Amino acid sequence: MDKLLIQGGARLDGETTVSGAKNAALPILCATLLSAEPVTLTNVPQLQDIATLLRLLGQMGVAVERDGDRVTLDASGLDNPLAPYEMVKTMRASILVLGPLMARVGEARVSLPGGCAIGARPVDQHLKGLQAMGAKIAVEQGYIHATVAGGLKGARLFTDMVTVTGTENLMMAACLAKGETVIENAAREPEVVDLANCLVAMGARISGAGTDVIRIQGVECLHGAEHRIMPDRIETGTYLCAAAATGGSIRLMGTSTSYIDAVVDKLLDAGCEIEGERDAIRLTAPPRLTSVSIRTAPYPAFPTDMQAQFMAINCVAEGTAVIRETIFENRFMHAVELQRLGAEIRIDGNTAVVTGVDRLEGASVMATDLRASAGLIIAGLVADGETLVDRIYHLDRGYEKLGDKLSQLGARVSRVR
Ligand code: UD1
Repeated sequence: MDKLLIQGGARLDGETTVSGAKNAALPILCATLLSAEPVTLTNVPQLQDIATLLRLLGQMGVAVERDGDRVTLDASGLDNPLAPYEMVKTMRASILVLGPLMARVGEARVSLPGGCAIGARPVDQHLKGLQAMGAKIAVEQGYIHATVAGGLKGARLFTDMVTVTGTENLMMAACLAKGETVIENAAREPEVVDLANCLVAMGARISGAGTDVIRIQGVECLHGAEHRIMPDRIETGTYLCAAAATGGSIRLMGTSTSYIDAVVDKLLDAGCEIEGERDAIRLTAPPRLTSVSIRTAPYPAFPTDMQAQFMAINCVAEGTAVIRETIFENRFMHAVELQRLGAEIRIDGNTAVVTGVDRLEGASVMATDLRASAGLIIAGLVADGETLVDRIYHLDRGYEKLGDKLSQLGARVSRVR
């Protein structure tokens, strides 16, 4: 199993390019199930999760052609609406096939995702919404078996909490339902908007994406289209944090500050200078950051996917920060690993209190999930000596060419077996 060896202490300096957003690409790839015509996507990141989803779609009868960041999917031969456990367990986002399959063929068998390192993560809201649209749902032997006779019907949907993939699944299902669907309490994440833009390019009638009420007028069928995936705001934020923690100065290309206001705001509070260009961001960090407290919440508030990275920067900042995690119940697993590097962190329920220390010291640490790994890498970059991050397959799920990009920025990192 690969590990990442980091020789800490190098100040990040230079330029690199941000990839397409994993969390936009995943639902958009699933959206291609809704059409019997080819859909071409560009800026698709080369990541483990994307490869898993393409394999899953292939098994369902979708023809997939891939050339670098360009992927063409043709779901005219869709004949096997099944998402098996072996795939869903490695990637929870596989649940995103459920809505499109129900809309297009009126049937789906999708494994229940089960828990994951960061919490229980149920999908009850996805199921409740589909039921309101007329679906019959049974859970048998760990599989969701959903059917609908005569097609889905538009409905007024209200989710109990803001759910990103829940909103996406229901929005996709509604595109081919009869009549109007209204999703209230909808997620406002930019990835929901990117998905809506792609669906509209395919002929869907959607308004309100990006607000908490989305209206969809069902149409007979969707057609082919070409769509460019938005830049990855979490990858963007992660490199900004890495540069900030090392007192560095970097320029990130292929991205923009538009979707990361909450993150930029906190980095400014921490003492960084940030300049947004048309398709790039520059960050210059002070020699030592000031602590910044954060509270995670649905967009446009501070993203839970950036919590671990901010815990890492607070470990070496001046002062004490309070970090509150309100989205997932078990998302502080990186804290104990950061403590192994000498961080001062106290956890009480969903609150972490981090007091910055003068220096961290390299050690072996274990990645527990995708964003936790990013936090450990940032800490490794500032720690004295060597840090060995184990289980970096988590990072391969979500960060394209992480080692190469960090090296371009001047970090001393290498993959080891
Ligand atoms: C998405 C992102 C993930 C991010 C998360 C929160 C993708 C592929 N993943 O995950 O990176 O961390 O949003 O921004 O886009 N919940 C329920 N029942 C449901 C659905 C959700 O109880 O049916 C709960 C979850 O357990 C969690 C909260 O709602 O506590 C928000 O989860 P949700 O927005 O659904 O996360 P994902 O869409 O899985």
